[in-house]
Amino acid sequence: MCVLGATGMVGQIYLQMLADHPWFEVSAVTGNTTVGKKLIEAYAGKGDLPRKFWELEVLPSDPSKIDADLVFSCLPTKAARELEHKFAEAGFPVVSDASANRYQEDVPLIVPEINPEHLDAIDVQRKRRGWEGFVVTTPNCTTTAFVLPLKPLLDEFGLRYVNVVTMQAVSGAGYNGVPSMAIMGNIIPYIQGEEEKVEQEPRKILGTYRDGAFRPAEVTIDATCTRVPTLVGHLAAVTATLSREASVEEVAEALEGFRGLPQQLELPTAPPRPVVVREEVDRPQPRLDAGSNDRSGMVVHVGRLRKGSLERTVKFVSLTNNLVRGAAGIAILTAELLKATGRLG
Ligand SMILES: NC(=O)c1ccc[n+]([C@@H]2O[C@H](COP(=O)([O-])OP(=O)(O)OC[C@H]3O[C@@H](n4cnc5c(N)ncnc54)[C@H](OP(=O)(O)O)[C@@H]3O)[C@@H](O)[C@H]2O)c1
Repeated sequence: MCVLGATGMVGQIYLQMLADHPWFEVSAVTGNTTVGKKLIEAYAGKGDLPRKFWELEVLPSDPSKIDADLVFSCLPTKAARELEHKFAEAGFPVVSDASANRYQEDVPLIVPEINPEHLDAIDVQRKRRGWEGFVVTTPNCTTTAFVLPLKPLLDEFGLRYVNVVTMQAVSGAGYNGVPSMAIMGNIIPYIQGEEEKVEQEPRKILGTYRDGAFRPAEVTIDATCTRVPTLVGHLAAVTATLSREASVEEVAEALEGFRGLPQQLELPTAPPRPVVVREEVDRPQPRLDAGSNDRSGMVVHVGRLRKGSLERTVKFVSLTNNLVRGAAGIAILTAELLKATGRLG
């Protein structure tokens, strides 16, 4: 198994989560400026690297140089656009965190608990493109901050409209993403391209896949995305308009009771409860509740659940670990789902 972009912010989390994985063994890692270095040299000062990976050589992201039966891609968008198709063409199953291929008509955009049936698009993709391999994508880290709680609301009460304001940690922008002089003691009320992704992606994820086509869910989303000086954990303040009236207790019950196929299959990276409702008045908080680089970081915490002023509206705050549930962890869970459903070799 190979991690493309293994020396970045998300790459580190993959290696920590995969060090003792029961199904997947890391056989190759790639980078760009660090090609040719040992991984431990490439990591200097950046983060914790499990001892077993120290001696791995950073390879170029070239399919002909890689020996692996599965590829995780956490490449920047431009590199992903150039390289992920090449890997799929060369026969590799690719699970990608990058946005480059998310919106294509034959590429699944997966949250394993929400839309596992969208993986059926892989067959169409392979046939249409003549590929041995395939590309499956995971959402933007901010989409994952609130799309999981939306699923039980959609199923139980119907969902018409969502307004979301995000407070996104600096790690979401990558290791060299936001200059410290710009963000320390500050909030930046704009993240390039983010609001478009956050307004578009949940519609594909919550929609259907039938007769070879994705049909987006009929819900309208307005987003305002901001960057705040926290390290890890994207917080989203959500107001959702439901199709029918529901009490706070009914909504809490729907959120707490939500389970998906990964929980049924007891996949290694699946948290027992994907959505946890917090009753404390001041939770969730990024520092306290973002969890670690394991299944604890796969839980979406929902708090401050209350009725909105308008009819059929509910309000809540939702927190996701952007590096785990929002990137490496969701991709690993997706790969586990691919394997458990017989789609990996
Ligand atoms: N950070 C998050 O919370 C998050 C969440 C969800 C999705 N994502 C997505 O995941 C991807 C990676 O994000 P990140 O935060 O890990 O970024 P990052 O910290 O900037 O890391 C980028 C990685 O890609 C490698 N790379 C850069 N240019 C390359 C090229 N032309 N060819 C091959 N490899 C190249 C870098 O290698 P060198 O170190 O060797 O230069 C490094 O390993 C992005 O597409 C991002 O949008 C990030």
